[in-house]
Formats: sequence, structure tokens, C-alpha cells
Amino acid sequence: MRIAIGCDHAGVDLKHEVARFLKEQGFEVTDFGTEGAESVDYPDYARKVAEAVRTGQAERGVLICGTGIGMSISANKVPGIRAALCHDVYSARLTREDNDANVLTMGARVIGAGLAVEIVKTFFGADFAGGRHARRVEKIARIERDWAGRSG
Ligand code: RB5
Repeated sequence: MRIAIGCDHAGVDLKHEVARFLKEQGFEVTDFGTEGAESVDYPDYARKVAEAVRTGQAERGVLICGTGIGMSISANKVPGIRAALCHDVYSARLTREDNDANVLTMGARVIGAGLAVEIVKTFFGADFAGGRHARRVEKIARIERDWAGRSG
């Protein structure tokens, strides 16, 4: 599986930990930045990763900022993206099984690397359950379609 990963300045160290873990597990990881401590804007990196998933360049994405919130809000603006902010393994499993989440976001100022790696392991080890959940995920897509092109 190909995974797109990105972060802002708050998430650089955790991104490297997560990317190393994913590569050790055999995933193909493409890093969309940022690198270094210079302050950057999280929507720029959320967009790169979300668009990589949207266009099929990657099957899934991981985004890390200080809280994970800005990355989640931004990534979810790209149609077809279901980005889930997870700071516990229960949510990481359920967002795959129930929501078919395709992007995981985390906050490097909220959790440590040990828990983050457990969350990543859980997220990438769980599968969409389908059934009644497929109907609900389709209703998410319907919201996107109904609002496409509307200004108000
Ligand atoms: C950057 O200071 C911070 O706002 C960002 O990393 C993130 O927490 C936004 O949601």
C-alpha cells in the first residue's frame, strides 16, 4: 500500500517516527514535507496529502500538526477524503471499520510517539466493515455532491 505523509513544523519529528515505522512494515511512503522548524501553514500540507489520496497517487494518508485538528479540517475539504483525528487506538480501529477513513491525523503536541505508532498500527491493520456503514459513507459523499459548485 502507498501512503502519503505530511506535517507542519509542529509534527516533523513525529512524522519521521511514523514514516520509519510504516516503511519497516513494508509500506511505500511518500513524504510531502515539511522539513525543519520554520513555521509553515498546515493547510498547504494537508492539501498535498489529501490530493495525493484523492487522485490515487496514494491509497491512504497520514497528517500531523500540533493538535491534528487543522490537518483534519483542511484534508476533509478535498472531495472523497475522510480524514479522522485519532488520539486513541479504539477510534483508530473504528474509523477504519465504520467510516472507511482514508487519512489519519494526529497531534504531535497531544500524544507521544509510542501511542502514535500504536494508533498507526491499528489504523492500518483494520478494514472497512461495509454493510450498513457503506450506506452511511455513501451519505457523506452525497453531502459533497449536493454542495458541489454552490456558493451559499
Ligand atoms: C501551529 O502552531 C498549530 O496551529 C498547528 O500545528 C495545528 O495545531 C493546527 O491545528
